[in-house]
Amino acid sequence: MSLKDFLTYQAKTSPNPIGLEVIKAKGSYIYDSNGKKYLDFVAGISACSLGHRHPKVIKAIKKQLDKFLHVMVYGEFVQKSSVDLCKKLASFLPSNLKVTFLTNSGTEAIEGAMKLAKRYTKKSKFIAARNSYHGSTQGALSLLGVKNQKKGYGPLLPEVNFINFNSSEDLFKIDDNTAAVILETIQGGAGFILPKLDYLREVKRKCEEVGALLILDEIQPGIGRTGKMFAFQKYNIKPDILVIGKGLGGGLPIGAFCSSRKLMEKFEYKPSLGHISTFGGNPVVSSAALSVLNTLENEKILDKISEKEKLIRALLKHKKIKKINGTGLMLAIIFEKQEEAEKLVKESMKRGLILFYLLWNKFAVRITPPLNISFRDLTKGCNIIIKILDDISN
Ligand SMILES: Cc1ncc(COP(=O)(O)O)c(C=O)c1O
Repeated sequence: MSLKDFLTYQAKTSPNPIGLEVIKAKGSYIYDSNGKKYLDFVAGISACSLGHRHPKVIKAIKKQLDKFLHVMVYGEFVQKSSVDLCKKLASFLPSNLKVTFLTNSGTEAIEGAMKLAKRYTKKSKFIAARNSYHGSTQGALSLLGVKNQKKGYGPLLPEVNFINFNSSEDLFKIDDNTAAVILETIQGGAGFILPKLDYLREVKRKCEEVGALLILDEIQPGIGRTGKMFAFQKYNIKPDILVIGKGLGGGLPIGAFCSSRKLMEKFEYKPSLGHISTFGGNPVVSSAALSVLNTLENEKILDKISEKEKLIRALLKHKKIKKINGTGLMLAIIFEKQEEAEKLVKESMKRGLILFYLLWNKFAVRITPPLNISFRDLTKGCNIIIKILDDISN
């Protein structure tokens, strides 16, 4: 019955949503209204970094629920869980990223980062990458690198130029008028595309040359998905502004952008209230996020990510699989044909495994399970995939 109401009353984003009626989720599993159990290889689009209802996250949320919920707009009162979260993030970050602005979503953090870059540099041009995704609000949409996807929503921000990700030749477009270059450290929607060795360093060097900032969007690859707490740490480079979200919240809505005090204090003066939010830094959400970071650290979950990647790569060998993109637990199976990707996603649901697509690369199927998924469940899910591909081949 709730499926009918879902289709009647809740706005849809595609003509044919999956429509799975969820009644429970725990660990790496989701349960539907028929009592069927699904192994989750998607994790809320990389958001459930510790799986569903991790006991430590639930405990932290409950503890905060018993104290207070929302009390004041962002940035005015001292609320321990939010302060502790920012301090904990700082412990993982280099000296120029020690101050954090907490938001309610990734796209809202992108908006804040864009404003900060304009305010600090006194410039207004942005450079973004083709096939990028940074969110759905109008600033973030202006940066979106797929023309067709913006159809009907213009006019958007006028001064955004696009470069090809990984193209050194395109870097000449970063010029004296550029406020910031904004890139996903690993391109998500495009197909989990890794930056070439030294590419991000070249971009940073060019930014420094012309006085532009480098903003890295790690809303998807951040918070351990690649095996490092932040993906940029793999590439020997430091952004001027780091944007995160998704996996930080442990299943609750969050976003954040981190920078230096020197940049961030621009929001404080002339005019003050440069960027404000009612619920950003909500104490319940912050408690959940803090416990995510503590759990990742205390349980050394990131130490096992590369072993998990190796297992997936070893198990997913099949003539239908062209290649596997990505790194850590941000992997994408790439097929020759779009129908093969579609068949796999649909058939896997029937066989109790949740898989899903990437935004723009129609030949890809994402594998972004909870970071703490067991080796046993990884093996089980990969075996289901291989069996489906065998059946499709016959
Ligand atoms: C790289 C990237 N940037 C920005 C966003 C937008 O984040 P949110 O959906 O939390 O607003 C997403 C979400 O998918 C993302 O993957």
